Amino acid sequence: MFTELESLRGAATDEARSRRKDVAEQVTIELVRHSVAEEVLVYAQVEKKVSEAEAERARKDHAGAEETLSRMEKLDAHDPAFDDELATLMREIRQHIAEEEGQMFAHMRQVIDEDELRKLGARVEAFKKAAPTRPHPHVPNEPLPRLAAGPAASLFDRLRDIATGRGTDD
Ligand SMILES: [Fe+2]
Ligand SMILES: [Fe+2]
Repeated sequence: MFTELESLRGAATDEARSRRKDVAEQVTIELVRHSVAEEVLVYAQVEKKVSEAEAERARKDHAGAEETLSRMEKLDAHDPAFDDELATLMREIRQHIAEEEGQMFAHMRQVIDEDELRKLGARVEAFKKAAPTRPHPHVPNEPLPRLAAGPAASLFDRLRDIATGRGTDD
């Protein structure tokens, strides 16, 4: 999705612009669900079994990206500032993924056995189905506040998504 967004940067036709908006919305939905699931399930394990500092750094990365998503949400997709925010987001996320996949997951594999990691993966997938779809930067990137805000935020986000057709192709 990032590669497609980059190829659509400065899109001139209405069709390309609307495609760019749809992909940016889909990216937002997927990133928010992924982040909340990680904060509640994965980083909690990292904090306990790997390193508190590593979990804290990852939560800060998420908080930064969530601020970017929240600024993007307030901009019209035709605004040049939207392109800049999108570029910022992609830089933040790529950097975060490199750290997560290059270091954190390797550290997790050293202390958590494969069976447990597979179960954790399945819980993450199940959790994502019930997670919010819009950025909520005022909610701390910690399990308890995320869970407390979760049901209301998810339901409200999904109702708004249905009302506006966000996350669909029409
Ligand atoms: Fe993450
Ligand atoms: Fe991740």
